[in-house]
Amino acid sequence: MSEHLTVVDHPLVQHKLTLMRDKNTSTAVFRQLLREISQLLAYEITRDLEMETKRIETPITEMDAPTLAGKKLALISILRAGNGLLEGIHDLIPSARVGFVGLYRDEETLQPVQYYFKVPAELEDRLVIAVDPMLATGNSSVAAIDLLKEAGAKNIRFLCLLAAPEGIARMKEAHPDVPIVTAAVDEKLNEKGYIVPGLGDAGDRMFGTK
Ligand code: URA
Repeated sequence: MSEHLTVVDHPLVQHKLTLMRDKNTSTAVFRQLLREISQLLAYEITRDLEMETKRIETPITEMDAPTLAGKKLALISILRAGNGLLEGIHDLIPSARVGFVGLYRDEETLQPVQYYFKVPAELEDRLVIAVDPMLATGNSSVAAIDLLKEAGAKNIRFLCLLAAPEGIARMKEAHPDVPIVTAAVDEKLNEKGYIVPGLGDAGDRMFGTK
């Protein structure tokens, strides 16, 4: 991907996102919509994957048919909200290897605190797609990508549902080599670090906590 930021303005993505933003949308519907959008965003973030051909036989004849090249890609969920994006993408790319980075946001400092890190082997040879629905301050996304780079990842993309301008700027400064794909860029962050207008706490909305 050559662009640092790609906003997927497809009508289906935008329609589903509006339903997700609505505070009256139930937890079950929110989760289902997130699953559907994750697949549409994954379609976009993988559109330039390298291909090769392999010789196969159809019922009619032989052909050189296109197939994904290279090592299986790695999907990295930034816990816990990342899991809501992960599931749909994993269905779409079932051969992908999956990792988890556990970071929570200290509500006072808004700084990320690590509590879990488990990622696939040979990250350096894989396309790594890190997923987290909300790119807010960018603190946890930057920290997660720092950890992935320390673990060897060289080719990383970041997929989120909503981004704040502050988070995009922070990511661009810390990780200019990591393209971001999102469904929308919102107006700003509020004093608590929530995206405005946003959709609230993505984890709470998908898991029914709070
Ligand atoms: N995380 C969320 O879940 N929502 C926000 O608005 C910001 C960070």
